[in-house]
Amino acid sequence: MQRRKTLTQYLIEQQRENNTIPADLRLLIEVVARACKAISYHVSKGALGGVLGSAGSENVQGEVQKKLDVISNEILLEANEWGGNLAAMASEELEEIHPIPSTYPKGEYLLLFDPLDGSSNIDVNVSIGTIFSVLRSPDGADTTAQSFLQPGSKQVAAGYAIYGPQTVLVLTTGNGVNCFTLDREMGSWVLTQPDMRIPEDTAEYAINASNARHWYPPVTRYIDELVAGKDGPRQKNFNMRWIAAMVTDVHRILCRGGIFMYPADKRDPSKPGKLRLMYEANPMAFLVEQAGGKATNGTERILDIQPQQIHERVAVFLGSKNEVERVTGYHADSN
Ligand code: AHG
Ligand code: MN
Ligand code: MN
Ligand code: MN
Repeated sequence: MQRRKTLTQYLIEQQRENNTIPADLRLLIEVVARACKAISYHVSKGALGGVLGSAGSENVQGEVQKKLDVISNEILLEANEWGGNLAAMASEELEEIHPIPSTYPKGEYLLLFDPLDGSSNIDVNVSIGTIFSVLRSPDGADTTAQSFLQPGSKQVAAGYAIYGPQTVLVLTTGNGVNCFTLDREMGSWVLTQPDMRIPEDTAEYAINASNARHWYPPVTRYIDELVAGKDGPRQKNFNMRWIAAMVTDVHRILCRGGIFMYPADKRDPSKPGKLRLMYEANPMAFLVEQAGGKATNGTERILDIQPQQIHERVAVFLGSKNEVERVTGYHADSN
């Protein structure tokens, strides 16, 4: 029988052989993975489970919450509260941070998550996911929202799950990127794509082109060149994909390369983009860099940004190194 490596086995090896993760971080990742399994179960039930549609509430981002946004958030909170490895949690769906209740032991880590990424895909049966990030708490028992305000370079682990044709978990603890597929019958995550790498060059890009009229000049210049294809200055054809769930767009890039962009635009000059730095951009930037790619906000490495508040937004350009460098260079040219 073919021997398969499970997530548990992979994490124990990392702890023992490579010494890259301490035992409490390993256990924390296992709990997150278990919560993702539960979310996957609810997602897969769809209309049969009564999980589709709107919850009728709004989150702090001003978005209408879908039932699955709320269910996924509750599953992650509940699963991670009692494990003893966390000091507090923060979520896209919660206005304030969620400290560990005093009835449970506290640990030294902070967990941040986008419980359900790609909410607009839920009701049309298109892939969605969960994104998470782990930081160390600098303040022990006195954790506040301030404790979370660390640059992404301080992350000790990050990853995502995708609920699609297959349910997968993609993880980094700072030692490369590995993808595990959920074996539903066995209930285990099996290592299926070890050491994911993003090629430096690509002919595929992802951007919501309906916003083209709002873009700033460096983005327009870059996209115009891609669209011009073989007849333009790049002398090469480019293809476009947009799933409208960052998690799946980034997964495609980790599987076969590409560049993903959600730029700031002229609609609201005070808004530095749509995506959230702490729940979306930082964990994805950590994964992308670990796979040999790059991630910037157009001017600066995402992982170097000092957050000012937990729900902060940011412009995102990430993926194949040479394309991210090119569009980042166009921003520098325009200054
Ligand atoms: P969420 O569902 O967690 O609010 O995030 C949705 C985000 C991101 O996943 C995706 O890339 C982007 O919004 C899609 O935005 P558009 O609808 O503007 O294309
Ligand atoms: Mn949302
Ligand atoms: Mn999201
Ligand atoms: Mn979300």
